[in-house]
Amino acid sequence: MTFPDPILQRFAREVAKYPADQKVSAVMACLAIVQQAQGHVAAADEQGIAAYLGMPAIAVHEVTTFYNMYNQQPVGHYKLNVCTNLPCQLRDGEHALAHVCKKLGVEPYGTTADGVFTVQPSECLGACADAPVLLVNDRQMLSFMDNARLDDLIDTLRDSVAQPAEHAK
Ligand code: FES
Repeated sequence: MTFPDPILQRFAREVAKYPADQKVSAVMACLAIVQQAQGHVAAADEQGIAAYLGMPAIAVHEVTTFYNMYNQQPVGHYKLNVCTNLPCQLRDGEHALAHVCKKLGVEPYGTTADGVFTVQPSECLGACADAPVLLVNDRQMLSFMDNARLDDLIDTLRDSVAQPAEHAK
């Protein structure tokens, strides 16, 4: 598997940040670059990164599967990660996940038929005191997500996707 030149150039910039014998340290950055370019990291991409960095493909896969932020398959326009780790479990984290799944009609790790939402349980997001917490697209952390706030969030995000289409009419 080879990557397009623009991606290889970005890989090279990341590798250059480390000593020549430690280029495997760029593995997370390389995974992020691939995901940014195509939305997810497929097994073939992991193998390509492994070959580029001179490391076993299984070691790349271990990184991909350890972090929630790496998507192993295509995800919806909005990826919702609901924390279900123990401290959040004690403060309705599981309930929040169930509520989101029920409202969107998906199972955990599922994507809505319109491709707008993917819902995933998540390990600790580092905001345990704010439970239930939810992370949107690996960037936006939202706290104290009771049912009403979850409903508002989903409606707002869905509207944000629907509006451009309505303007085009
Ligand atoms: S356990 Fe949920 S944010 Fe820490």
